[in-house]
Amino acid sequence: GIIILDFGSQYNQLIARRIRDLGVYSEVLPFHTPLKEILDKNPLGIILSGGPSSVNAENAHLVEQELFEQNIPILGICYGMQLTTHLLGGKVKKGEKGEYGKAKFQIEKTNELLLGISRFSTVWMSHFDEVEKVPEGFTVNGNTDVISAISDESRKIYCVQFHPEVSHTEEGAKMLENFVFKICNAEVNWRLTNYIDQTVEEIREKVGDQKVILGLSGGVDSSVAAVLIHKAIGDQLTCIFVDTGLLRKDEARKVMENYGEHFHLNIKLIDASERFLNRLKGTSDPEEKRKIIGNEFVAVFDEESHKIEGAKFLAQGTIYPDVIESQSVKGPSAVIKSHHNVGGLPEEMDFQLLEPLRELFKDEVRKVGEELGIPHHLVYRHPFPGPGLGIRILGEVSEEKVKILQEADDIFIQELYKNNLYEKVSQAFVVLLPVKSVGVMGDERTYEYTAVVRSANTVDFMTAEFSKLPWDFLEKVSNRIINEVRGINRVAYDISSKPPATIEWE
Ligand code: XMP
Repeated sequence: GIIILDFGSQYNQLIARRIRDLGVYSEVLPFHTPLKEILDKNPLGIILSGGPSSVNAENAHLVEQELFEQNIPILGICYGMQLTTHLLGGKVKKGEKGEYGKAKFQIEKTNELLLGISRFSTVWMSHFDEVEKVPEGFTVNGNTDVISAISDESRKIYCVQFHPEVSHTEEGAKMLENFVFKICNAEVNWRLTNYIDQTVEEIREKVGDQKVILGLSGGVDSSVAAVLIHKAIGDQLTCIFVDTGLLRKDEARKVMENYGEHFHLNIKLIDASERFLNRLKGTSDPEEKRKIIGNEFVAVFDEESHKIEGAKFLAQGTIYPDVIESQSVKGPSAVIKSHHNVGGLPEEMDFQLLEPLRELFKDEVRKVGEELGIPHHLVYRHPFPGPGLGIRILGEVSEEKVKILQEADDIFIQELYKNNLYEKVSQAFVVLLPVKSVGVMGDERTYEYTAVVRSANTVDFMTAEFSKLPWDFLEKVSNRIINEVRGINRVAYDISSKPPATIEWE
């Protein structure tokens, strides 16, 4: 496949997805991966990604020089172009103002990467440093305000200063296609149906006649993992579904129906709601609540999994972005809240891990899910946080508040589906505030809770904007919540974007 060396750009995963969309396997490795390890993978081509560092900085992120002497085609993008220039004897200087956003790109002299690209096109730039002098043997192929495309075709090294993987680069997809098929001579080999068959075989081989347990949450990843593993080993798989009492309305019942009855998965439903609610009593600090819920989950899961005799494997719905994130050069500074994803279990548990989705991006997991017969609406569910409604009830959690919030949230979600809006937003839910306000109902004065309707649009959940939902839709949702849910007499819509607001309220 094609290997992407990660120098920390926010667009790296996108490069891999674009290449996989072309039907060619591609993976992301940290930039400091030893050359030998890279070569062992027999890459057809190597992409050096963008990144926030400067090649002239003291601790610049570098690669071994010999990488360029392997006769493997190389594409340097943004920082990757500067790095190539720097390592091969050219010069990179601090830019005067940098370029951010759209720019006009003009081809001076075409090459195999730019084959079929218009002489003038729009590209997406995000850089400060710029190439001042190209290395010996290199040609300048195109410019924006700065030198923006260079190559040494005899060595199959191509570089661009802009980001071809971003959709704002009008003809970027064509450039990646040229690199993959014309320059690297890759063949189409990445199809998800093959992936399913191959993974089923691998699971059978690895597991043999042993037992596997899996924490089923009802979310996309754990559900697809469960159905895939079940396809491979049937009832050797036991799923544990923990009802924390902090789930969406009827979640446990629906999971039992969808996956227990329909897919015949063997699911142990554990109703632990009382336990969780008791432990949460008197706590209103968000991080404290997260800790309690996370620990309690681990405790319940641990107890239940030990009841399943002789289980050797623990299956998890880990997906490729989790893997990339955990090996990333960005480090934990990007994590602002402690995300106890349900499924993060202690290492002392004596299981071997089974992670059949480790190589897949979210959209690929969804395709695999649909291929396995999981209904569309389940595969396209919004993400739901591990601590659940525990962090959507602001302040102290109680059973009464959970009931109120479940009803309100269910109405909002129903309406989104009914109005064909559910898949147009990335995550939508209701938050219950600990604030009561005055209202009237008939002749009565009411004094009840305030609910906040939240909906966000985002690509990566790191930044997000509030969804511009139509007024009449919001009116409908608000009317229904106030009329149908006892305990709420006021609904507000959250119009904050991230940053500085987060998507969740706690
Ligand atoms: P924020 O609120 O940080 O959320 O903008 C970004 C994404 O992360 C989810 N989220 C969590 N998921 N445990 C989780 O498993 C958590 O504690 C948690 N907090 C936030 C949030 O739902 C959104 O998708």
